[in-house]
Amino acid sequence: MVCGSAQLQSRFGYAVVSGANKGIGFETVRQLAAAGATVVLTARNQKRGVEAANRLHRSGLSNVLFHQLDVQDAQSIHSLALFIQTRRFQSLDILVNNAGATGVEVDEDGLRAKNIDPEIWLAGKAVDMIQDVMKTTYEAAKEYIQTNYYGVKNLTEGLLPLLQRSISGARVVNVSSLRGELSCVVMTQRVPDERRRRELGDIDTLTEEKIERILRQFLQDVQRGAIEANGWQKMLPAYSISKVTLNAYTRLFARKHPDMCVNCVHPGYVDTDLNWHTGPLTVEEGARGSVMLALLPDGGPTGCYFDRTNVACF
Ligand SMILES: NC(=O)c1ccc[n+]([C@@H]2O[C@H](COP(=O)([O-])OP(=O)(O)OC[C@H]3O[C@@H](n4cnc5c(N)ncnc54)[C@H](OP(=O)(O)O)[C@@H]3O)[C@@H](O)[C@H]2O)c1
Repeated sequence: MVCGSAQLQSRFGYAVVSGANKGIGFETVRQLAAAGATVVLTARNQKRGVEAANRLHRSGLSNVLFHQLDVQDAQSIHSLALFIQTRRFQSLDILVNNAGATGVEVDEDGLRAKNIDPEIWLAGKAVDMIQDVMKTTYEAAKEYIQTNYYGVKNLTEGLLPLLQRSISGARVVNVSSLRGELSCVVMTQRVPDERRRRELGDIDTLTEEKIERILRQFLQDVQRGAIEANGWQKMLPAYSISKVTLNAYTRLFARKHPDMCVNCVHPGYVDTDLNWHTGPLTVEEGARGSVMLALLPDGGPTGCYFDRTNVACF
C-alpha cells in the first residue's frame, strides 16, 4: 500500500481538476490527493474554491493547491497554465475535465414533488413527466454547451504543452454522462436522428468541424423551437448533445495523442446539486471512475468510454 502510494507520487505527480469546489470534482481532488498526487483544485468562484481547498487542508491533505478557473474564459485558462508553469510543476500528469452543467431551467420544488424513481429517470422514461418543470432556452443551451463541450476542449488544448511534458504520458479524464451514449440501450434514443448518430459514432470519418457543425445546428433548432421536430433528444437536450459531442471529441483527441491515456466516464447517478439531489449514489462512489482513469497504469486503455469503472459502449 505504501509502496503503491510512493509510485503514484512519482508517476502521477501533478493533477488539475475543474469544477472542484463541490460535488464529484471536490471528491475527485480528495481521492487523488489521498493517493499521493499534488492536485490543483480549481473553481470558477475564488471564494468557494478557497473554502473547498481549506476543507481538504484541514483534513490533512496539504498537497492540494487552489487556482481560479472558469472553463468558459480563455484568460482564466491561460492564467492557470502560467500558474502551473511558474510553480515547480513544469508538466501536468493528470487533467480531470469535471466542470459541467445541465443546460435547463428547472422548477426544483416541482421536480422534487414528482418524486421520480431513479430507474425511470435513468432509462429516459421520465421525459413526458418533466416537461412542465424543465425548460430549454437558447441562452441556457448555448451557455452549457460552452461549458460542457468547448470548456473541455479549450482547457485541454490550453494545457496541452504541459500535458505533453508528462514523463509517463498524461491521463486525461472527461467526465461525461450516460446521456451522451449513442448506443440504444434505453427506450428513448439519446440521438434520435439516425444520420447524426452514425456521423457522431464513426470515428474514422469524424472531425472536430463535423462535431461543431452539429452543435451549431442544435442551437439553431433550439432558437427556432424545433428540438423534437429535427430529431434531437427531448430529455435534457442541451446536456445530452453536449455530452455526446464531448465523447466524440474524447475519441478524436485520444487518436491524435497516442502517448496519453484519454478517456471519458459516466460517474453514475450521484447525489449532487447538478441533478437537484435526485441521484442515489454518494460522491465517493461517483468519483471512483474518474480517479481510476486518472491513475491508470502505463499501457492502460485510451479512447474509451466507461460507465463508472467499467468499459462500456459509446
Ligand atoms: N451528478 C450526477 O448524477 C452526474 C451524472 C452524470 C454526469 N455528471 C457529470 O459530473 C460532473 C460533475 O457534476 P456534479 O454532479 O458534481 O455537479 P455539481 O455538484 O453541480 O458540480 C459542478 C461543478 O462544475 C462547476 N462549473 C460549472 N460551470 C463552470 C465553469 N464555467 N467553469 C468552471 N466550473 C464550472 C460548478 O461550479 P459552481 O459551484 O461555481 O457552479 C461545480 O463546481 C459534470 O460534468 C456532470 O455533467 C454528473
